Parts: sequence; structure tokens; C-alpha cells
Amino acid sequence: MRQASGRGHGKLILAGEHAVVYGHPALALAVDRGVTVTLTERPGPTALDEGPCDERLRQALAIALPPEGLGVRIIGDLPLGRGMGSSAAIAVGLVRARAALEGERLDVDTCFSRAFDVERVFHGTPSGLDHAVSARGGALRYEKGPPARFTPLPCPSWDLVVLDSGCAGDTRELVEGVRARRPAIDPALEAIGALVARAEHHLHDPGTLGPLLTENHHLLQQIGVSTPALDALVELALDAGAYGAKLAGAGGGGVVLALCDDPVALVEQARNQGVDAFACRPVPQGAPPSEIP
Ligand code: PMV
Repeated sequence: MRQASGRGHGKLILAGEHAVVYGHPALALAVDRGVTVTLTERPGPTALDEGPCDERLRQALAIALPPEGLGVRIIGDLPLGRGMGSSAAIAVGLVRARAALEGERLDVDTCFSRAFDVERVFHGTPSGLDHAVSARGGALRYEKGPPARFTPLPCPSWDLVVLDSGCAGDTRELVEGVRARRPAIDPALEAIGALVARAEHHLHDPGTLGPLLTENHHLLQQIGVSTPALDALVELALDAGAYGAKLAGAGGGGVVLALCDDPVALVEQARNQGVDAFACRPVPQGAPPSEIP
């Protein structure tokens, strides 16, 4: 009975969400949380033995795997539906596990394009950012194009704190809401684009980058995608001395990321206030993708 595993990294958008839909650049980062998919050969139809079962996942399995002969286990430490790229990480994990089982050496570009086909099941028209980061690791500057452009950036050495609002946002609805508020909010979208260009040059300097992240959050408030719960998490982080904090992803729920000197202390403070929080480390490009957490 052969068995093989594949892992996809989670991601956080450091700056530029929503504005990226209108051609502005975004900065994103792979993190040391993710999803591991394990395939085990066995008789009978291919089916999920362990994992977050829903109809879209069933469709993703049908695209990624042969119809017969495999048991599938999906385990991970990414909060689901919180803007941390869980569906892209599952897609990348599936593609990698299948290649490993079949003894195929998979280069990153092939992994990216196969995962793109699987990811369409989850998101319809994904920008490509999530699974590029999930497959490659590291930090990326992304422009939608066409053609889409992914520019690898040197991986930062600081850790981030993630504060979970405890509820999911609906990316499709939030993107539509932003579209409906244009052109009134176009100046804020332009300002986010300009901010990303500055942030990119300060990736390795938390003291300068942090306030830019907070400025990005205020612009996301202006375009109507933050919530009182997300604003409160940003305030919690800033009150605790963080360099900066912002919602990460589409908003309406999901997570806040914070950049600070002492992630362990911030996680503890947040937990003391009843907030689910954890520290995340950026994963360098080309980091081993297949370890089981
Ligand atoms: O919430 P997420 O991780 O799916 O991020 C969405 C990012 C947006 O810029 C809001 C949409 C997009 O397609 O780029």
C-alpha cells in the first residue's frame, strides 16, 4: 500500500488587497502554516477519509485525482476561510501529493498551473496570487496584468502575529461591494497602490513598514471592507505596542496581521483578551514543501 504527501503553504497579503483587482501591485508572503495532503492507495472509489468535507472540495478531488483507488487525508493548521489561502494550499497539496505518489518530479511552474485548475473550483476566477505564493513560498510582488507578473522579493526575517476575528468574510461579495462604490473610492485605491510601492522598499525594516500597514488598514476602512471586530483587533495590536497592523485578505471577517518586536508577548496579550492569536514566520522561496506538521 503506497502512500505519499504534499504540502501547500498558507499566505498573508501584506499590502494591496482590493486595489490589486484594478491593476495596482500587491505584496504577499508565504507563512509557516499550511495544509498537508496524504494519499494512500487502496481499493474502491477515491474519497476523503479525513479533512474539511464540502461540495467544492469533492469537486477539487475529482479534478486533481484519479476516480478510483485513493484515500485522502487533509490536515493543516491554517484557519479555514480567513484570507490565509487555505483553498490554494489544499490545491497545491493535492497536486504535490499526486506527483509524489506517481514518482514525478514536479517543478514549481507545473505545480502552479495544475493547482490553478484545481483552485478555480473554489474561487471561479482566482487572481493567481494565492496559489503562486502557496507553491513558491517566499515574498512576492504581484500585478494582475495581463500578463500577471510575480516578482520574488527577499524573504523578511521578522515574525508576524495573526489575530483571528473568528468569522469568515465572503471574498466575492466584498469585491463586488468595492466595485459598486467606485468611482467615489478610486482615490483610496490609488493611495493603496502608492503605499505598496513604498512598502516594498521597507520589507526588512519593521519600524518603517509597520506604520505603512496601519495606513493600508485605514484605506481599507475607507473602501468599506473592514468591520468593527477587525478595527478592534488592529487597535488591540497597536495598544500593545505593535509597529503596525491591518486586516489581511478581502475583509468582512478573516484575520488581522500585526508586526511587532515581541510576537510571543502580543499573542499572550491577545489570548488574555479572549482573541485567538498565533505567531507566523515567513517561509523562504523553495522551502521543503512536503513535511507533515
Ligand atoms: O481573502 P482572500 O485571501 O481571498 O484575498 C482576496 C484578495 C482580493 O484582493 C480582495 C481579491 C483578489 O482577487 O485579489
